[in-house]
Amino acid sequence: MSIILCRVDEIAEGTARSFVIGGGTARRDIVVARKDGHIFAYENSCPHEGTPLETFPDKFLNQDGSLFVCSTHGARFRIEDGFCVSGPCEGKALMSVAVLIEHGRLSVE
Ligand code: FES
Repeated sequence: MSIILCRVDEIAEGTARSFVIGGGTARRDIVVARKDGHIFAYENSCPHEGTPLETFPDKFLNQDGSLFVCSTHGARFRIEDGFCVSGPCEGKALMSVAVLIEHGRLSVE
């Protein structure tokens, strides 16, 4: 069963948003970003210590919107593939999440 997150046009170019779905042990925290017109989604969990990336709501990206930044220790990740390019978990990557876009709506399985 898929879960609708939002309308795809609610993720503006150069921004990212978080979504929490489920609860208890089934809870999932997902971050979705749009870059160059493409949508990318990851588990919102830094591969360094497993903390959420953001401190402030939906503040995931660096100033020019080119990289995710972990607010805990400053690791930076490519938006396109979640690969960590600098910081304490350099060489690791965010865990990607498969999303569907149908009828203008974004959903996850
Ligand atoms: S928890 Fe993300 S860089 Fe340390």
